[in-house]
Amino acid sequence: MLYIEILGNLPEMARDEVKAMLELGEGEIAGQDYLFLKVNATERAFPFLNRLGLAHEYGELLLEADSVDELLEKAKEVDWPIEGTFKVDTETMANCRHNVLDLPRKLGAIIHAQGFRVNLSRPDTLVRVYCGEKLYAGIRLHYFDPKDFEGRKAHHRPFFRPISLHPRISRALVNLTKAKRELLDPMMGAGGILIEAGLIGLKVYGVDIKPEMVEGARKNLLHYGVRDFELKLGDATRLEELFDKRFEAIATDPPYGTSATLAGRKREELYRAVLRSIYNVLKPGGRLAIAFPTNFDGKVEAEKLGFVTLGMYYQRVHKSLDRYFYVFEKGKR
Ligand SMILES: C[S@@+](CC[C@H](N)C(=O)[O-])C[C@H]1O[C@@H](n2cnc3c(N)ncnc32)[C@H](O)[C@@H]1O
Repeated sequence: MLYIEILGNLPEMARDEVKAMLELGEGEIAGQDYLFLKVNATERAFPFLNRLGLAHEYGELLLEADSVDELLEKAKEVDWPIEGTFKVDTETMANCRHNVLDLPRKLGAIIHAQGFRVNLSRPDTLVRVYCGEKLYAGIRLHYFDPKDFEGRKAHHRPFFRPISLHPRISRALVNLTKAKRELLDPMMGAGGILIEAGLIGLKVYGVDIKPEMVEGARKNLLHYGVRDFELKLGDATRLEELFDKRFEAIATDPPYGTSATLAGRKREELYRAVLRSIYNVLKPGGRLAIAFPTNFDGKVEAEKLGFVTLGMYYQRVHKSLDRYFYVFEKGKR
């Protein structure tokens, strides 16, 4: 059994991102306690879990208990799979119902008694205890270092435009499409979504109506080592004319407001036309992840075209902007 700790700011989107990766890699979510997911998965899931954007870490779940005393009793029976030195680290979630103040010391003593050495500053193995409704203990296998994502934020890129999603969100959008081979962003801007897709090994296709964006996205992709891409200057409402192929997955973040980024069009008309064109170039069964401000009903508009809504996640960006991230699927007909 594995555990995955998801991020707290878009928890439903984070959970569905995990679900999508488990569907690709064989596995399922077996339970949830606030931001802690219990997961059944085989080895084949790891390459997909390593793609996650909205997760803190995952690991091997070794025990679960209803009280501190029960956890400590059970811990004596576990063969702790520790390599080198270890440290016990507690995560007290907002719904924690137990007093875990002394737990690291007591659990550490039990593991120490099995012959393992403690190193509090640089442990080789991290034993993680999560406190929520219940208590859980396991071994961390993978940590998603925030520095990796932070280093790809808009202002760190050679071509900078302040219109980019956070890289963690871009990564999650890519994952929610369940893309395995390729991804198109038909309004790519500076290429934030394409960078995240390229870094997990997808072939990426991008379109923007502005030449400086096409050139800028190209620079950014190369800067992060993404080489397998095809970028085009063109209109996202006429994708059928730009490509003679159909796509497995599409993710995009259309412009929200100013006339400059809308290239002179009325916003709602542009959104409807883009949705229609995306529908036409998506393969049957293919998925679209897309953001719209809340005053455009993306669900109704997409369903009119034949899309099925798989997910819808609210985010307040600032005082004058809140949006939904949507995941749509084109029927298999
Ligand atoms: C919000 S930005 C995308 C940001 C991008 N996700 C990133 O990470 O940099 C929207 C982009 O859509 C482009 N755009 C606007 N109308 C378009 C159209 N009809 N066809 C293609 N691109 C368009 C704008 O030039 C802008 O670069």
